[in-house]
Parts: sequence; structure tokens; C-alpha cells
Amino acid sequence: MFDPSPALGACPPPEIAVIIPTFNEADNVAEIARRLQACLQGIAWEIIFVDDDSPDGTAARVQELARRDPRIRLLRRVGRRGLSSACIEGMLASTAPYLAVIDADLQHDETRLPLMLERLKAGELDLVVGSRYVAGGSLGDWNERRQAMSRFASRLARRLTHADLTDPMSGFFLVRAEILADCVYDLSGVGYKILLDILASVPRPLKFEEVPYGFRQRQAGESKLDNAVLWEYALMLLQKLVGPRIPVRFIAFSLIGGSGVVVHLAVLWFLNRFLGASFLLGQTVAALVAMTTNFFLNNSLTYRDVRLRGRQLIWGWFSFVLACAVGAIANVGIATYLFEGDSGWILSALAGILVGAVWNYAVTAVYTWRGKAG
Ligand code: GDD
Ligand code: MN
Repeated sequence: MFDPSPALGACPPPEIAVIIPTFNEADNVAEIARRLQACLQGIAWEIIFVDDDSPDGTAARVQELARRDPRIRLLRRVGRRGLSSACIEGMLASTAPYLAVIDADLQHDETRLPLMLERLKAGELDLVVGSRYVAGGSLGDWNERRQAMSRFASRLARRLTHADLTDPMSGFFLVRAEILADCVYDLSGVGYKILLDILASVPRPLKFEEVPYGFRQRQAGESKLDNAVLWEYALMLLQKLVGPRIPVRFIAFSLIGGSGVVVHLAVLWFLNRFLGASFLLGQTVAALVAMTTNFFLNNSLTYRDVRLRGRQLIWGWFSFVLACAVGAIANVGIATYLFEGDSGWILSALAGILVGAVWNYAVTAVYTWRGKAG
């Protein structure tokens, strides 16, 4: 029989787990751990760093800390990327009843955590969010463009979630573990907005409160949020609209497929108009160009987290074109079959396109991006 008493005596089970996602934060992890340890005195805590195999050796630095303090743990993910999914997996790795998420880069004000925990318990709340927008909070050194982007995204998010949070994009919050358990199957897990994902996925509106904090300057390392964040954000919103049954990567894949049609027509027109190419030649070149742009767009957007690089691109491109060529044959075959069965040309064409798209998506997910689709 497992006898828990000695372990319990040495280290009580945590009341709060602080989940810290990291990507290239080697120079920040010791400092955030030190600060948390200082401000969480008197509370049973654990810290779970979730590192996506950062090339700067963040994981090794966390391991050094974890060897000295059993309350600190490392969850190392290999071959994966993504802030949201890192937070979700970190939260699922804990038994603590209260789960906090905070960035590793010291931009969030960790000294707010004890107050947030107090509020969560006292107010019988589900969630307490660190906010940059309520009185007393601030945006720190973000430039105008990023501030405007953040405000716009927040407004959109408020519409979507029907929660009147001032800062639904916050990466700093504390939530009851049951809340996560209630919605974990419905989370999209894509992109950066874990809080928003939770808010949009819970079966009932959450009771929450906001605690202001000032967004600090980053001391070491750099931000990983670039323009692709907007795309991921749009995908997450879309996922919420279409529901969890249709994978978000398929939506992205189809949107890009649609852009391929535009590319195809433009190339065909150009070749015919300016170079006098025959229709057959034009059509062939246009199809190849469109497949190529589709491949690169999918590689940097749909499969951003498992992007192919360097030499992998050659095999990736080749398998993509091959799959799409077969998909086109299936598309035409199905459409012709239905058309001859008197289904009308629009319906036949749409059915052909759908079958082709599903085929292309499924096959390239397995062969081009090696089974990484979800
Ligand atoms: N595991 C993992 N995987 N961690 C990641 C990844 C990833 O792919 N990308 C970023 N992180 C970690 C960073 O190491 C950092 O600890 C934290 O997530 C936030 O990333 P930053 O790149 O520093 O984001 P930011 O400062 O521009 O924006 C942050 O603050 C905003 C305001 O609260 C994020 O938390 C945003 O989500 C938030 O809106
Ligand atoms: Mn940051």
C-alpha cells in the first residue's frame, strides 16, 4: 500500500499551482521563482514551468531550481509549440484546487497573487483576473500600435464571451480547478489566449473579479507575440463560432485553399494575357503556383507550431503537391459522378470541392506535417 504520510509531512499538498509557460526564458526563470517564493509565504504552493524545449536551455535552468525545491516542477514538451496548450497542460498536471497562470518574463505583477487568492476564496468566485485596464492598472511600455491592437481584440472578445471583463486578453489570472475540468474538452488550445478560450468554453457564465496591475517592462529575452498572433486569434474566434467538432486547422486550411483559387485565376490570366500561353499550359502552371503558395501559407499559418524548415520543405512541398493532385482527381470524379446523376452543377461542384478539401487536409496532415493536425 502507498503510504502518503512521510511525503505529506515534508511538503504539504499545494493549495495553489502557479503555471508558468516558457519559451526562451532562461534568464528569467530563477528570478520569477524567487519572487513567487517570496510573495507566497504562508501559502502551500507549487510552480509548474511548461517549457516547449526552448533552444536557449530554459529547461535545464528550471531543472536546477527543481532539484533544490520539490515544489518546483518542469513539464517539458518536445516538438510542440503554443502558449495556450502549454498552460492547459500545466494546469492539468496539478492537483491544486486553485490554478494561476503567469508569464515568466516578470511583466505580470506576481505580488498581486496573494490578494487574488484571497478574493477568489472570500468572494466565492470562479476566476480572478489581473487587469491592465481597470483603475490602477497600466499597459507599461507597449507601443501605440500594440496598445490599439490589444484594445480592439479585447472589444471583440467581450462580444464573444458575454463576460464584461476589461482585460479578457490577460495572460495573468487565477481560476478554480473545477472550472478548467468543466471546459477542458471544449478548449481550442490554439494560440495565445488561454483565458479567453476558457471564458468562451465554460457552460455557464463565470463569477469573476478583476485586480489591477501595472504591466512591467521585459528585462531579459524577447516577446514571442508577433503578427501571427492576430491570425491565431481570428482562428480561435472562428473555432468558437463553428463549434468544437470541426478542427480549427481544417478551417484555416480551407480559407487558405480559397485564397489559392484567387492565386490560380490571377496566374492563369496573367500567363494568357501577357505571355500568350495556351489554356492547358496556363492552367498547369497556375495550379502549381497556387499549390505552392498554399503549401507555404499552410506551413507558416495552419501548421505554424510544427513548421517545416530547411530541407524538410522540399519533401513537404512535394508531398503536398502530390496529395493535392490526387485530391483534384477525386474532386473532379465525384463532381462528374453527381452531375451525371442530375444533381445540378452547383451542388455537384460543391460536393467535389468538399471531398477534395477534406482529402487534401487529411492526407497532408498525415504525410506533409506528419500527423500533427488536431
Ligand atoms: N511553453 C510555451 N510555448 N510558452 C510560450 C510560448 C510557447 O509557444 N510562447 C510564449 N510563451 C511564454 C513566454 O516565454 C512568456 O513566459 C509568456 O508565454 C508570454 O509570452 P510573451 O512573448 O512575453 O508575451 P507578451 O508579453 O507579448 O504578452 C503577454 O502578456 C499579455 C498581457 O497580459 C501574454 O501573456 C499575452 O497573452 C497577454 O495578453
Ligand atoms: Mn511578455
